[in-house]
Amino acid sequence: MLFGRNQKNPITITDKQVVKWTYSTCGYCSTGCAIEIGSNADGKPVASRGVGGADVNRGKLCVKGIFEHEVFEAQGRGEIPLLRGAAQQSFDAVGWDQAFDKMAAEIARIQAQYGRDAFAIVSTGQILTEEFYTLGKLARGVIGTNNYDGNTTLCMASAVSGYKRSFGSDGPPGCYEDFEHTDCLMAWGSNLPEQHPIIYWRMKEAQEKRGFPLIVVDPRVTMLAQNADIHLPITPGTDLVLQNALIHVILAEGLEDKAYIEANTNGFEAMAVEVAKYDPTNAAKICGIDEDTIRTVARLYAKAERAMSIWTMGINQSTHGSDGVVGINNLNLVTGNIGKPGGTSLSITGQCNAMGTREWSSCSGLPGYRALEKAEDREEIGKFWGVDPEFFPKQRGLTETDIFPAIETGQIKGLWLVATNPMTSMPNTARIRKAFEKLEFLVVQDSFADVETMEYAHLFLPAAIWAEKEGTFTNTERRVNITRPIKQAFGQSQSDLWIFNQLAKRFDQGRRIEFPEQPEQVFEEMKFLSKGRLMDVSGMNYALIEANRGIQWPYTEQHVEHGERPKAGGVRLYTEPRTFRHPDGKAKLIALPFIDNNEVPDEQFPFWLNTGRLVEQFHTRTRTGKIGNNNKFSPTAFMEINPDAAIELGIKHQSYVRVVSRRGDAVVMAMLTQRVPKNMVFVPFHFFDCVNRLTLGLLDPYSRQPAFKQAAVRIEATDQVAAARLNKESRGY
Ligand code: SF4
Ligand code: MOS
Repeated sequence: MLFGRNQKNPITITDKQVVKWTYSTCGYCSTGCAIEIGSNADGKPVASRGVGGADVNRGKLCVKGIFEHEVFEAQGRGEIPLLRGAAQQSFDAVGWDQAFDKMAAEIARIQAQYGRDAFAIVSTGQILTEEFYTLGKLARGVIGTNNYDGNTTLCMASAVSGYKRSFGSDGPPGCYEDFEHTDCLMAWGSNLPEQHPIIYWRMKEAQEKRGFPLIVVDPRVTMLAQNADIHLPITPGTDLVLQNALIHVILAEGLEDKAYIEANTNGFEAMAVEVAKYDPTNAAKICGIDEDTIRTVARLYAKAERAMSIWTMGINQSTHGSDGVVGINNLNLVTGNIGKPGGTSLSITGQCNAMGTREWSSCSGLPGYRALEKAEDREEIGKFWGVDPEFFPKQRGLTETDIFPAIETGQIKGLWLVATNPMTSMPNTARIRKAFEKLEFLVVQDSFADVETMEYAHLFLPAAIWAEKEGTFTNTERRVNITRPIKQAFGQSQSDLWIFNQLAKRFDQGRRIEFPEQPEQVFEEMKFLSKGRLMDVSGMNYALIEANRGIQWPYTEQHVEHGERPKAGGVRLYTEPRTFRHPDGKAKLIALPFIDNNEVPDEQFPFWLNTGRLVEQFHTRTRTGKIGNNNKFSPTAFMEINPDAAIELGIKHQSYVRVVSRRGDAVVMAMLTQRVPKNMVFVPFHFFDCVNRLTLGLLDPYSRQPAFKQAAVRIEATDQVAAARLNKESRGY
């Protein structure tokens, strides 16, 4: 007989009545967790769980993944195509045929009137790789605009460009397993616990087992910095100075890997001349890290048997983001830490398929890391698609960040947005609004009809979401994983693949070119085009990908012979000497002079403004803003401010304040915390009409990525009642 508390079971687990689990890959971040969605007898998705046998997440999911089944019927899903009515104020529901007729007619009109490049396309890191490939075929081979880019320019463009400059190609050389081999980990502007929780868990578990030192470079005391052995609270925007100073110490003390440098790199002398200028004593004055700490870190990193660096937006979103990536690569090349277990450069990507767009979307070139600049690449793709190679431009067109200024100047008249929301995500909202007002025709293609950019849309195309479709994603460590369709697309929405294929049929050239209807047929085209290239996926197929819970590229037909779980696949890149992708097989060491060209605090605007992500929210909250357990945990924009600064300004904890920059203002709730130094505030970037009203977003010269992370602001007290009302309204739900 049971008594007391034993009698009533204190834990009740709701039986969700799942009758079927379907395999998928999480549609939020680039960690790439394998996830199963459970459906009940009515076919309704009711539960999410991590896949135990998946190498990436080993059964775990973060707070976004565990509620991902709620996204299918979240508030705001687009149900039917919408066309702005004659009165301009409202939309009319239309059929798909009418939507495509209108879209094709407007594209034709704009191109005839203003030139082919006057119609621009900006896509995403969210859709499936097969869809990216198909959109690329449509944009490059049919519509023929060169002003075609992805929102990944806001995010990973600096990593792409830095990899290309150092190694001759894009493609992160490392993988998560490197945490299990490294003797020293340096994280640059990367807050894993909040941005990539499951990568953090992999890292933390490896660190607890083997105890390698963790060095975190970040102006804020982020969650990762709280876990660091050494935290370097760097002055915003001065990464290059720290990188040069570290290499300065390594060379001065003879700690470099001479044999590796000699065999595998070019450019050592010029780089050595540049870093000679960055002695720690002087560097300390610029980057804010004291000289002895610089020496300690340099020695720790160079003397470690295997050392690795990871980074995220803290490096990429800067006026010298591309140089910052090259600086990390320089550090790893001089210490011989590329291509070996635990010794590597590993960019931690943002969106679930930001890697897929880099590989296959043709945004920056042609599919499979091919370049518009190379005649043989244009020939090869032209022949394969059945397009005259002369139809392709001979160099890349405008990036997303240059497309908006080109709208301002009237060079671009029409825009098609695919699964991206620049009203919230682009820097300097006021300027973006002005640009939108000038467009003659804007198409918004999204799974949600309530994205802020809808304010300026002329046509809305409702797209199926993530696991209403079938196809692949590539994650941060080059792992291709698959999603299977869990349910029918919501309302009359259709897969992005179907939308691209239908639109292609509206053009003569599109009817001549083959656009396969089934995702795996598209994947077969990609396999063919990948043969013998760095990102070779020719050994993969959907069944094998699912059976292995994802496979890293390169994975060729030869790899297939290695059996079920393809270990010999592309765990790492550049593992053999002189296999870099520059013509002579060597990597480049590049001299990186520091130019201080960004906005910095002054008397009028005395605070650094720093921006970043929160664990509960994803990007512009199109999805997580509607999911109770995500949005309720993190419902409102706030600003971290140091208590010492707050006291001086008379600002109370949880009071509303007005933040002002040279671009605009935003009202946020002040949170007093020691996470930020006295001269800095931090505001998350997820919220509409908030931090990007303030950001300046000067562009990196190579990657054209904006410097979201550095701007100058001042803080003002504000009317608490009015601010509270404003805040409640802007929350919406
Ligand atoms: Fe999804 Fe990223 Fe969370 Fe994994 S860590 S469950 S991929 S959001
Ligand atoms: Mo990104 S958020 O890796 O496009």
